[in-house]
Amino acid sequence: MLHAPMTDRILIVDFGSQVTQLIARRVRESGVYSEIHPFNKVTEESIRDFDPKGVILSGGPASVHHTDTPRAPDGLFDMGLPVLGICYGEMTMCAQLGGEVVPTTEREFGRAFVDVMEDCPLYEDVWQPGEKYQVWMSHGDKIVQVPPGFRAVASSDSSPFAVITHESKPFYGVQFHPEVVHTLEGAQLLKNFVHKIAGCAGDWTMANFREEEIAKIRKQVGDGNVICGLSGGVDSSVAAVLIHEAIGDQLTCIFVDHGLLRQGEAEQVVETFRDRFNIKLVHRDASDLFIGELEGKDDPEEKRKIIGRLFIEVFEEEAAKIGGADFLAQGTLYPDVIESVSFTGGPSVTIKSHHNVGGLPERMNMSLVEPLRELFKDEVRDLGRELGIPEDIVGRHPFPGPGLAIRLPGGITREKLDILRQADAIYIDEIRKADLYDTIWQAFAVLLPVRTVGVMGDDRTYDYACALRAVTSTDGMTADYFPFDHDFLGRAANRIINEVRGINRVTYDITSKPPGTIEWE
Ligand code: XMP
Repeated sequence: MLHAPMTDRILIVDFGSQVTQLIARRVRESGVYSEIHPFNKVTEESIRDFDPKGVILSGGPASVHHTDTPRAPDGLFDMGLPVLGICYGEMTMCAQLGGEVVPTTEREFGRAFVDVMEDCPLYEDVWQPGEKYQVWMSHGDKIVQVPPGFRAVASSDSSPFAVITHESKPFYGVQFHPEVVHTLEGAQLLKNFVHKIAGCAGDWTMANFREEEIAKIRKQVGDGNVICGLSGGVDSSVAAVLIHEAIGDQLTCIFVDHGLLRQGEAEQVVETFRDRFNIKLVHRDASDLFIGELEGKDDPEEKRKIIGRLFIEVFEEEAAKIGGADFLAQGTLYPDVIESVSFTGGPSVTIKSHHNVGGLPERMNMSLVEPLRELFKDEVRDLGRELGIPEDIVGRHPFPGPGLAIRLPGGITREKLDILRQADAIYIDEIRKADLYDTIWQAFAVLLPVRTVGVMGDDRTYDYACALRAVTSTDGMTADYFPFDHDFLGRAANRIINEVRGINRVTYDITSKPPGTIEWE
């Protein structure tokens, strides 16, 4: 369990649904702190320890008829707490309280409509009796009889029990997923549960978080010293500024510049953190070392390994020069901490060996300061705004640790890096001008190791081809290519070919993930 702050909180019991994290996000968006705990770790005692004002049981892939069916602790229903069961959560609540649930051949999946029969606190001021509303369903079991004391207040084509409620206890069940955007008023339903039914105050704000976290950092660190790897990305930037606000010059940031950053990025990091925030910052220009070792290496995994190894070596060297640090700060986020429920078990395949500062803590044998452990990415951005970090840093698209090295398939040279930087900067500039930057999850240029023939003026050219990539996503795990209009693509391509020496052809990548990945390597 995380160290929950002093605000009202909601416990989400995870039964392994793909979208459990969205429940936590919707609850937090309504100003209430929530945590996800895997069902197999939740006991009556752990619930009492966490002290929630309400409990949400998530969906999940199991059927209540499987052997070893996941269950909520039976005592939960006697603790006087409001409970909302979503999808599988509704099924298990019914099964555990004496209702009857059966597997069905008529699986309901995707968009569906519910008919509201009666008023219910869950949709008070949102849904009206006698009307139909769009929801998103994904379930295989079906309730045939609700437990004693329950009744249905809304139904759908394939289920007479789309929403159920108890006559005297604050128990609710929904067969659809209110946490996904396709359930149009879903966020309001969750807000009703959390505020009106569970009575949470809604004081989980980034301003409060900032105060509490600063106090926690001071308590943890005392008069010790902290070092922090700063990359210019959102997470390390926000962690650094927050820690600096807590302990001032007891913090030193180390910025390992591997020479694989985007245009103007290294200067911006130094200017923002050293000059504006007055943070003690070591800027180590290690570009010769990185680019030297990468020369002639064109295997993506080998590139990643080299960069990861050198990063740790250089970081350790700089940390040793500073000397005497007791703590290592990391921008770990909540999605990295949530213990996931795995029904499949077994190791998953490594698609890419992600490089970041993972691995440093074990090697350096230091205690960790991780002030963002409780936050989702969008909350980190809000906190960054609260701390006064410029929008072009907090709102920035994700950027991989190995940087431009994995956007240059084939061998890396300084010349190619320069060409890629210019093309990328023009592309991003056009995206910003078209006011699309914030709609897109990630956009970048890739310089291909292919030269093609072109004609400019009366001359033949023989230059590199460049691919443009832009995707929408919510977490980077799956992604769709962004549907630019052709005018936009024409404009960006034209500028790149005219303004960047070394590129004479531009293509647009229309691969989704899966089967592609976001980065090319
Ligand atoms: P892929 O290419 O695997 O990327 O679809 C998913 C997300 O992760 C980022 N990415 C990385 N981030 N170190 C990082 O810190 C890495 O080695 C790395 N590789 C990919 C990628 O930019 C996208 O946002």
